[in-house]
Amino acid sequence: MKEAELRVLDRSSHPKTRDARILCHRDKTIHNDVLTVSTLNSFQLRWAPFDLPVSSAVDFVDGLNTICGAGDPRTRNGVCVIGFHVPQGDEQKDLVLSDPAFGSPFTIPETATKKHHSRLGLARCHSESGRLRWAPFDLPVSSAVDFVDGLNTICGAGDPRTRNGVCVYVYCCNASMINRCMYNSDGDFLIGMKFSVSIEEPSRGYVLEIFDGHFQLPNLGPIGSNGLAQPRDFLTPMAKFEDIEADFAVVSKFQGQLFQATQGHSPFDAVAWHGNYVPYKYDLAKFVVINSVSFDHCDPSIFTVLTCPSTKPGVAIADFVIFPPRWSVQQHTFRPPYYHRNCMSEFMGLIYGNYEAKEEGFLPGGASLHSMMTPHGPDAACFEGASNCFLRPERIADGTQAFMFETSLSLAVTTWALHGSGKLDDDYYSCWQGIRSHFRESWRPEDDEMR
Ligand SMILES: [Fe+2]
Repeated sequence: MKEAELRVLDRSSHPKTRDARILCHRDKTIHNDVLTVSTLNSFQLRWAPFDLPVSSAVDFVDGLNTICGAGDPRTRNGVCVIGFHVPQGDEQKDLVLSDPAFGSPFTIPETATKKHHSRLGLARCHSESGRLRWAPFDLPVSSAVDFVDGLNTICGAGDPRTRNGVCVYVYCCNASMINRCMYNSDGDFLIGMKFSVSIEEPSRGYVLEIFDGHFQLPNLGPIGSNGLAQPRDFLTPMAKFEDIEADFAVVSKFQGQLFQATQGHSPFDAVAWHGNYVPYKYDLAKFVVINSVSFDHCDPSIFTVLTCPSTKPGVAIADFVIFPPRWSVQQHTFRPPYYHRNCMSEFMGLIYGNYEAKEEGFLPGGASLHSMMTPHGPDAACFEGASNCFLRPERIADGTQAFMFETSLSLAVTTWALHGSGKLDDDYYSCWQGIRSHFRESWRPEDDEMR
């Protein structure tokens, strides 16, 4: 019986069948007697090492599917992106900048990716259009300002009336919401459902709003089940009612405007609840960091805490991404975030500490926006330092918490953010002006060995 079953399996992989034929080289026939297993001992098989071909007449080109490349033959590698994308040290000396452009999101299915990696022989400084940076937004000092009154829009896209889009806000407040709460009819805030914000000291923060869908954990794919943000670490509050008769202001955000009504009791009067459409909180320190432990970089999508997917597979309406404290260990690699252009819009903020790629100018409570396909990357000081440092395992980003709101939508910036806030950094472009070319067309590794 076992023999009969095996023969059936063998016939399915016979080279004369349609599926197997494509495996055969035109002048190499895989014979039936090689594939047929017909002995009763067929579950105990052993093969001696299979012979290697004495000589190979086959040449190979790099790449899977349609990825291809070309380089200037005067440079050392000929083809520009052999090995890895973000070199450091000797590998960096004939090509100064790695400059990938991503025409599709990092998380799109592999068969649909559009990306381009180039290395620039000359340092380039691009125009500042599409790159904006703000100094820390001011906390209120002269009067009491609560969360609602201290909320300002930085940028956004879409329209809540068509349930498609995102908005990014900052809030700066110095007073709690006393007998006042807020709910959002337009979509989800990353910070809660119907809520009242109480503070113990002047506070400042960032809010991401999505007009459709909800935040969820990203699909982990090959990472498996134990990386990034873990479901167990999200905390949802227990029911806790208050039975208070008092004038209570209820603020509603509806079609981009705030409306306020007054009621005679506290709205926080739920004594129990069940379901899965609930507010939650998450401690960013519990994020399980994934990264390369050999060389080169993974894409920033490995730092995604929560995502709001669009209807296109792998394309996010918005990703919430963090750059947490971690070990950096890659060899032969320029370790800071690489220079790139992206088909996504990237809004970054710094909650506390120093951001490794821009220790000057990008400060806690400030922000930056790099719009679609606008080149950006580390400032000149970071580039020089990380290009020439000795690489050893080291901790990075300790005592810091930078984050990014990344969206597939193109964001418009508000008049308040450009002019009203008084915090726009008109000199942002200059942080790249000092980047100088290390390009040496004729450089060879032995040049340095002879010195
Ligand atoms: Fe970026």
